[in-house]
Amino acid sequence: CGIVAVTGYKKALPLLINGLEKLEYRGYDSAGIAIINSETKNVSCNKAEGKLKNLKNNLKNIEIPGTVGIGHTRWATHGKPEVKNAHPHIDSSGEVAVVQNGIIENYQELKIKLQKEGIVFNSDTDTEVIPHLIQKELLALRQLKLESNGSTLLVALRNVISDLEGSYALAVLWSGAPEALVVARKQAPLIIGLGEGEFICASDTPAIADFTKIILPLEDEEIALLTPLGIEIYDSNNERQYRNPISLQTADQVSDKKNFKHYMLKEIYDQPDIAKYWLEKYLIKDLKTDQFQINYSFDTDFLNSIERIDIVACGTSKHSAMVGKFLLEQFSGIPTNVFFASEFRYSPPPLLCNTLTIGVTQSGETADTIAAISMEIKRRSSIGDRSFKPNLIAITNRVESSIGRQIPNIIDISAGIEIGVAATKTFFAQLLSFYGLAIKFAQIKGSQSNENINQLVLELTKLPGLVEELLEKHNESSEKLAHDFFNIKDVIFLGRGINYPIALEGALKLKEISYINAAGYPAGEMKHGPIALLDKKVPVISIATPGQVFDKVISNAQEAKARDAYLIGVAPQCNGTEIFDYLMTIPSTNEWISPLLAIVPLQLLSYHIASHRGLDVDQPRNLAKSVTVE
Ligand code: G6P
Repeated sequence: CGIVAVTGYKKALPLLINGLEKLEYRGYDSAGIAIINSETKNVSCNKAEGKLKNLKNNLKNIEIPGTVGIGHTRWATHGKPEVKNAHPHIDSSGEVAVVQNGIIENYQELKIKLQKEGIVFNSDTDTEVIPHLIQKELLALRQLKLESNGSTLLVALRNVISDLEGSYALAVLWSGAPEALVVARKQAPLIIGLGEGEFICASDTPAIADFTKIILPLEDEEIALLTPLGIEIYDSNNERQYRNPISLQTADQVSDKKNFKHYMLKEIYDQPDIAKYWLEKYLIKDLKTDQFQINYSFDTDFLNSIERIDIVACGTSKHSAMVGKFLLEQFSGIPTNVFFASEFRYSPPPLLCNTLTIGVTQSGETADTIAAISMEIKRRSSIGDRSFKPNLIAITNRVESSIGRQIPNIIDISAGIEIGVAATKTFFAQLLSFYGLAIKFAQIKGSQSNENINQLVLELTKLPGLVEELLEKHNESSEKLAHDFFNIKDVIFLGRGINYPIALEGALKLKEISYINAAGYPAGEMKHGPIALLDKKVPVISIATPGQVFDKVISNAQEAKARDAYLIGVAPQCNGTEIFDYLMTIPSTNEWISPLLAIVPLQLLSYHIASHRGLDVDQPRNLAKSVTVE
């Protein structure tokens, strides 16, 4: 979900809508705004189910005078995506409005208590307890003869959050203090942007970038009062905090869809340029030694002591990490484990020394990944022994994000902003980052000869041209293939070794945007169960690239063919591949770089199937580009 909140002297409504447009990638089930109407002095609220454009339509002919407001774009957790569950949520008197990200874990208990006191709930959300609890506190504070102002709202919210369990970022307004906004966070990001005589607070920097480049990220468990006169920030001990703001470094790139029908297709086509840019940015030839160096922006000396690597990530980022594991183990010789971030947090492996922990997240905001990294930092820091200290790297497309603030050693994948919810070019750029890291470690550990490293580098330098060719070759043909397949119910993807994660990613792409059931397996595993699914209605897509396991993958494909499955190969034109009913040819290259090529036709095929089905390719149902709840 995304939060935006403003106070100052400019009209709140356009600022809120502009901010929400920038945050829609965090959820688009519903959206809403609340503004303190400067004429009536009441809270005016408007909400709509579905995408932000529905809210904008609602508001098209409505003027809401007022300079203080909050807005929200939702990815449903508690309660269906309906208007009643959209934020802001308002208390029974209509005076207090709240938007929230995160999950209030004890909301049931709080709700039952409030209901017993006669409070009627209008939604199924966890959030709605908050405005009711704040109103209760405000009543109690009024009895103590506290004035109606922002400071009173701050005290009320502080008292309320002490009863909340879980994680949250929230913004509150109250008609009793018409110039004030109160915001608070716990394990969910909130950033304050400082304008002149006005402030904007948001869950992520894109919502702020148009407004100001000067920001103040709130620290965990802080609470702040914002009025046009200034900001007061307090920590969890109620100590006032003073610190200097920082400036946003990267200009927020705007993305142009060019002439493509969808952003996703445009982003698939961005990949040759991403490869070009990566080669220029990260691969530097040392003219004295003739060796290639990987050019990181942080001091890499600490990598010398690393003996093992743990990687945490979710979704597509996890698939890139699995290719990374293959490279780091098989090319660089470093034991590496990849974890679902959501699992790592609650069942981490026993601590081992000299470990590098890598967080991979394109958005830099995925709550599971951020929480897993925080947990790891905490548990390692609590051990005195230096060899157990946290050694961290973040691989992200968003340097100025939560993971960027958490981890100073950043590998910026520099893919440019990705709009399509299903990740394509950022996956490709994450893969490249792992090639860089594998080369770096192979050099540090001496696990590969210079010749082998140079060979891999040489293959990588061919990428821009090779990917361009693939796009040229497969865009139209995969559109035709999609025409035959758009009505299928199940698809199986097979791959082995370095391309097993590509089978997983191919299946994930198809699921995400076309809602077709797809599963990826290591090709050798198919016979141990999934083979029972096969018949002539289930196509099998096999990634077969020349190398160690080529013959094995072909044999596994034969097994599928013997069960009448329609076979699609992602493979070079070579002996063995004639068994495929349809071949999506990829160039014959060194096996190490094959994932960077095999993924391209699979992205195109998923795209064309979804597009053919007439689906919303860029914003598929139920998903969000970045999921900021656990
Ligand atoms: C969401 C998206 C996925 C994405 C995952 C991880 O679930 O729908 O497409 O792969 O988050 O995102 P991240 O920003 O951490 O890479």
